[in-house]
Amino acid sequence: MKISIIGTAITKFGELWSLSLEDLFKQASLEAVESAELDLADVDAIFVANMGAGAFEGQMHLGALVASHFPHHPPAMRIEGACASGGLALLAAQDALLTGRYQTVLVVGAEKMTDVSSAEATKVLAGAAHINNEYGSTFPSLYALLARQHQQTYGTTRKQLSVVSVKNHRHALDNPYAQFHKEFTLEQVNQSQLVADPLRLLDCSPLSDGAAAVVLTTKNNGGRAPLLTGRGHGMDTLTLADRDSLTSLTATKRAAKQALSDANRQITDFPVVEVHDCFTIAELLALEDLGIFDPGEAGPASVDGQTTYGGKVVVNPSGGLKASGHPVGATGIKQVAYLARLIMEGKFELALAHNVGGSGATAVVHIIEAS
Ligand code: COA
Repeated sequence: MKISIIGTAITKFGELWSLSLEDLFKQASLEAVESAELDLADVDAIFVANMGAGAFEGQMHLGALVASHFPHHPPAMRIEGACASGGLALLAAQDALLTGRYQTVLVVGAEKMTDVSSAEATKVLAGAAHINNEYGSTFPSLYALLARQHQQTYGTTRKQLSVVSVKNHRHALDNPYAQFHKEFTLEQVNQSQLVADPLRLLDCSPLSDGAAAVVLTTKNNGGRAPLLTGRGHGMDTLTLADRDSLTSLTATKRAAKQALSDANRQITDFPVVEVHDCFTIAELLALEDLGIFDPGEAGPASVDGQTTYGGKVVVNPSGGLKASGHPVGATGIKQVAYLARLIMEGKFELALAHNVGGSGATAVVHIIEAS
């Protein structure tokens, strides 16, 4: 059974103070259904991705919140897996389609993170770590540990981290929905405010509001719509200290293996990928764990221009989480929606999306192909 992506929506990402969480969910949902040229009543079920609305806004019961905007009130449920909530909702939606129970579903993710202070948002996000074993940790500090270990093992340099940020901010200029439309120099990244040594402000994805949605169908009317041909789901220990390695994320390796096998593809086939660069070090880890570069080689390859247009593979054409923004529940869906659009526009024929939860306890990989 083939699964087509027949509709996509991505709202503006950023500090969207005039829009509520419900506004974001509604905007993305209705736009995606409209772009699929369907009526709301054609949606058989809704899969909703969100990490922290209970803590950010005090709003839970998100399946019902979204389904309320559909006059026929289709079945709807919320899926949470920290920053991988979007990827997981896509997996759940595909499982439901493949049973034959539904033929057309909406997958929508949103997060509204900027109505609370940065300190409060940091505390909410820290709930994606192990709240006892990693008590007091922040996400920048956990990824700083991974960066330190990578630096010690492979000699990863400040410049290798900074080029990731410079490149993703440059790519975001092409993305009208990106939070930042501003280029930075290596020197500006190197000199930006220290957040958690060695990670600086311009190594970090921002706090963001935003939503994204896709409409998936198994009906044979996908026409020339892109297909989801591979999906993988990998897990690891929630606590970083329990991991075998701190220089790679095993969950990514597991998810990639499954997705590539599903689609009968090699990693070398891909001209474009969206990877989970919540911090610059995370992009280097992703490129190595996906097998695009050998361990320790993603940094030098990035400096060498191998991760942008004209190089080996275009990494994060949307600007990634770094510059496009990271409304956590929306991110995994936005990656797939953005790549599906690039394929629809004829810019690429094959693409891979990589979405991570927390410091790598959950990873989801999707493969999208032109039909
Ligand atoms: N990248 C680039 N610019 C950023 C930025 C980022 N990550 N975060 C904030 N800015 C900019 C703001 O737009 C603002 O610019 P302006 O003065 O021109 O308006 C300025 O920096 C100050 O913004 P502010 O909101 O005060 O920053 P902050 O210090 O409160 O927050 C971080 C900065 C790094 C702490 C915050 O972005 C953060 O927590 N990021 C990580 C999010 C995260 O962990 N996500 C989950 C990943 S697993």
